Amino acid sequence: MLHKTGLDYLLVFLGLAFSLRSLPADQALAPYKDPKLPTQTRVEDLLSRMTIQEKADQMTQSVLNDSNPNNPQTTDVQKYRPTYGSYVYFINVRARNNVQKRAVEQSRLGIPALFGSDVIHGCYLTFPIPLAQACSWNPALVSSSCSYAAAEARRGGVDWVFAPMIDVTFDPRWGRIAEGYGESPYAASVFASAAVQGYQGKTLDSPDTVACTLKHFVAYGASEGGRDYSYTDVSPVRLWEMYLPPYRAGVQAGAAAVMSSFNDLDGIPMTANKYLLTDVLRHQFGFNGLIVTDWSAVPQLVIQGFARDGHQAIKLAIDAGIDIDMNSYLASMNVPSLVQTGEISRARIDTSVRRILKLKFDLGLFEHPYVPEDGKISPARVKDGENLAADLAAQSLVLLKNDDATLPISPQVKKIALIGPVASDQSEVLGSWRCRGDPGRTVSLEQGLRATLPPDASLTTEQGCDFKSDHRAGFAAAVKLAQDSDLVILCLGETAAMTGENASRSSLALPGVQEDLASAVFQTGKPVVLVISSGRPVDLQRLEPQAKSILAIWQPGTETGAAVAKVLLGEINPSGRLAVTWPRGSGQIPIYHNMHPRARGDGDEGAYQDIATTPQYEFGYGLSYTTFTYGPISLSSGTVRSGGELVASVTVTNTGRMDGAETAFWFVNHPVASITQPMEELKYFEKAPIPAGASHVFKFVIKPKRDLTFLNGAGQALLESGPINLTVGRQKISFQVEN
Ligand code: NOJ
Repeated sequence: MLHKTGLDYLLVFLGLAFSLRSLPADQALAPYKDPKLPTQTRVEDLLSRMTIQEKADQMTQSVLNDSNPNNPQTTDVQKYRPTYGSYVYFINVRARNNVQKRAVEQSRLGIPALFGSDVIHGCYLTFPIPLAQACSWNPALVSSSCSYAAAEARRGGVDWVFAPMIDVTFDPRWGRIAEGYGESPYAASVFASAAVQGYQGKTLDSPDTVACTLKHFVAYGASEGGRDYSYTDVSPVRLWEMYLPPYRAGVQAGAAAVMSSFNDLDGIPMTANKYLLTDVLRHQFGFNGLIVTDWSAVPQLVIQGFARDGHQAIKLAIDAGIDIDMNSYLASMNVPSLVQTGEISRARIDTSVRRILKLKFDLGLFEHPYVPEDGKISPARVKDGENLAADLAAQSLVLLKNDDATLPISPQVKKIALIGPVASDQSEVLGSWRCRGDPGRTVSLEQGLRATLPPDASLTTEQGCDFKSDHRAGFAAAVKLAQDSDLVILCLGETAAMTGENASRSSLALPGVQEDLASAVFQTGKPVVLVISSGRPVDLQRLEPQAKSILAIWQPGTETGAAVAKVLLGEINPSGRLAVTWPRGSGQIPIYHNMHPRARGDGDEGAYQDIATTPQYEFGYGLSYTTFTYGPISLSSGTVRSGGELVASVTVTNTGRMDGAETAFWFVNHPVASITQPMEELKYFEKAPIPAGASHVFKFVIKPKRDLTFLNGAGQALLESGPINLTVGRQKISFQVEN
């Protein structure tokens, strides 16, 4: 509770009085240890017993980076203070239990530590990278993947995950584009809530759930030039329209924590940004959970030129609203003196410590501080997890081109060449932040194809070149193989380390000599299916005209081969659609669906002279093996009032011969507004299976206050009378808002 009422204090007092009266004095259990008491009572009791140093240590997050369970010493526990509140944890249950034992049994009050980990797209089982997950447009499946990851993580001793990453970005040079849900604030909001529900479930006090963290607050995705950790210059309107919405949604879904971001935002680094951390996040959004800084972000305030030293840096960060200082120890070292000199009030520190203790009680850590070393998920559940990972991977693949219906591969095709560095790879396809994902367990594309191909088809593999080097020695064998085949599957892409944190690139071109390998293979004249595995859209300008088909597979995770082979061979009809605009090349960045109009419209004026102004593939793009035909949009009325509701519907028919799934994207445009609005803005989406020959009616129930407002620079929602354009599947209709 941020603001306590008199009644709250009375309840706490009564709780304490009751607990002390109900036991004989010699057996009296400290109230904070009594699980029968309300959490708030326990928190207040414990807080009242703590010294200021113990409180400062609760605000300190250390790092337990021993991830080797075979280490005989299982971590030199003596180096950790038993009173540290939490750890960045790299999953080693024995080491965790040792450190926890020290906290619980060798500290004065026995407060258990919290163990937080980067479980971003799976723990042991690796799901597709989040950008790929977004392309599935299936929030229920994304939520299930988070639930499964939570269950694995909690058994691995993780109480708290540093996910979901919900930073909107439209700069694919920024490596962290792979970790988020794309360029639409609406989509990121939907996936943020789905992820929070998946990780946290109904209660945190369960072996299957973890507390989760919305990160990185905020506008980190606007890093200048796509360079990580860089300055961000974002107008107030842009901040509210693009970057803040997913955080509001994640807070509403009940996320336990928020991580502040590294970026300096308009001159106030986020680690010390009181307006955003306190006024907006806490007061406007009503967030009551923990705010943790990013890694060493407090001392970085000195590097950013905002604090003269560590002492001032931690004061500024705490003043701004942070509760936990990750990996700098500045809270532990400075909070007592800051309180003693009156620079920070005791009440301010108590507010943070209350939140930290509350989360520990909510997680049940006081009752169950340790994790069984042999705790495992049942084999049946692992199988379900693998099926889920394969399903999510398959749904996230985006078919970008398919001339002459080259895909799915026809049964007439007998000799298939599989060429390129992705062909047999089991590691890079796991993507960045693989956590404990095991390459040895990954189903490679080659393995997947071998398991799925009919017995009379042959598959031969040549790597041709690797991902990054300039070695061309393998070209000749690859070309020879292509010449001897009926069809080439050319699989190119990026390594896992080319996206993620601190992994920016100035160019979207495929690294190394992969484009040259492609040219050599194209010269054989054989039909080529290009499979691209990457953590971002890549530059396809040279390759696109020559490939018959292109399938973007992103980094699909443990079940790569199982998913991709089934799509290539037509067992699964691809249904992924782009969650980011795919630029032609880096010179077009930024390019995104929700841009504001140019002064001279979208014709030639103002366009580049040397490249088309349209992207290679637009947001929401993706082909299927069947065809979907959209009927006209119908509206329940031509006008809608602010408190009313309007239903838009469109009938979509599967006019092809194969069952498939279609996603209807509903875009809104305000042709005139007191603050100019994007040319189109995704406001709703729905994915539905549609069998061959069948139709589905997609509906968008429009509520003006939710769907037709826009935000000004103070975050106030404005609803203005006037026309609205609504688009779905290239059909367009207009209606009026009467406010
Ligand atoms: C830095 C990254 O920015 C953040 O995403 C991550 O959670 C922390 N390090 C902890 O590893």
